[in-house]
Amino acid sequence: MNITGPLEKIPREETLRLRKAYIGGSCALFFKSDPLKIVRGEGQYMYDEIGRKYLDCINNVAHVGHCHPHVVKAGAEQMALLYTNNRYLHDNLVLYAQRLTSYFPNKLSVCYFVNSGSEANDLALRLARAHTKKEDVIVLDAAYHGHLTSTTDLSPYKFTKINDGKKKDWVHVAPLPCGYRGKYTSTEYSQEELGELYSNEVKKLINEAHNNGRNIGAFIVESIISCGGQLLLPPNYLRNTYKYVRDGGGVCIADEVQTGFGRTGKHMWGFELQGEGKFYGGNPVSIAIANAVLDVIEKEHLMENASKVGTHLLKSLMELKSRHPIIGDVRGIGFFIGVELVTCQSTKTPGTEEACYVIRRFKEEWILMSTEGKYGNVLKFKPPMVFNMENANHFINVLDRILYEVEDKLGLVDSNQPLALSTMHENKVLTSDNEGVVSDSEDSYSGGSISGDEVMMPIKS
Ligand SMILES: Cc1ncc(COP(=O)(O)O)c(C=O)c1O
Repeated sequence: MNITGPLEKIPREETLRLRKAYIGGSCALFFKSDPLKIVRGEGQYMYDEIGRKYLDCINNVAHVGHCHPHVVKAGAEQMALLYTNNRYLHDNLVLYAQRLTSYFPNKLSVCYFVNSGSEANDLALRLARAHTKKEDVIVLDAAYHGHLTSTTDLSPYKFTKINDGKKKDWVHVAPLPCGYRGKYTSTEYSQEELGELYSNEVKKLINEAHNNGRNIGAFIVESIISCGGQLLLPPNYLRNTYKYVRDGGGVCIADEVQTGFGRTGKHMWGFELQGEGKFYGGNPVSIAIANAVLDVIEKEHLMENASKVGTHLLKSLMELKSRHPIIGDVRGIGFFIGVELVTCQSTKTPGTEEACYVIRRFKEEWILMSTEGKYGNVLKFKPPMVFNMENANHFINVLDRILYEVEDKLGLVDSNQPLALSTMHENKVLTSDNEGVVSDSEDSYSGGSISGDEVMMPIKS
């Protein structure tokens, strides 16, 4: 794109003043004490008001890269022609629905296009209740499913921080199947055992609810856990839990807002990782854009890219883990990766402040990252799908350098020596102001929902 003049309308300080004056205070900003003013995006890069270029490692909303020309053209052309609601016959709607469902298992054959991930999950909840005539829902601890009243009730990540942390009677919270720091861990159990143990926890909840005169109408879960800390589900977890829920007369809702459209590099949808079988207002413009996004995913082989570059990143991060005592765990698949920081390997004390510091240092290195997880100590990596090998190597080199800095401040030594090194932590305060911690709940996605036989999949498109 040819940029000729400055892209800001008012000076940065004035933008900030107006934001404080007119935008609700609970709309969080990244890097609160020194927020970025971003005026342009292209591919995997974002640019501030004076043209400084940032490598975007977290914006999974711009799935095929910021302002992809094919997507922009499709949206602009349709906007110039017609923009209205979905109460008229329109070719875009039906042709896209047909194309999208070709990526689903056979049982999933009908689409509802809505405006956001929250709306998709809310609709999925309504459909589940209408179908089962049962009100109650099982959710996972630390889960986030949206910002509406209904979806906040489904999100321990949110409701534990408001209303005195009270949950609704119709919500039942199952343990997060985290093999690193959960109820059952991979130091005691094999992956297969973890899948079974954690799914048994869901079975227990179903039975408990039943014994208390309640019935489970739905189980909602992300196919890979995002806000909860970038966690891959253990093998057979979904297969087992889905069976228990269905046997009890409930339906299963796969929240694919963050995991869908090929991000894992292996499959189009996250739930397919487990061998188990979302969505938008449906107006002509959104659909033209959604269709162009699928074109780009296919034509530019972005799933293959996610697989190749993601595998390289995971390998490189494992290598960093062998040298950096502050890395407790590395996990993920494709372009869905988490790096959990701890100040002590044996106690797994969350490196929350350290993660904030790392995020802030990344920004100084022109790289945008953020954190996830119950303790805000998981570095989240979810870049646009055009992220390339060169970007990956640059990211790893910078992370390597920043981690040495943090470890130096903490007095941590090379991880070839056993760790019980967090003692110096108290004396050495990292200068972080928690500002890096903005998790996905503050991201905004365009999402939606479909209903199929007994699975509904809120995804973003
Ligand atoms: C897993 C998950 N579900 C639902 C949502 C809500 O999507 P939206 O912000 O489009 O309402 C989000 C957004 O962060 C999400 O991460």
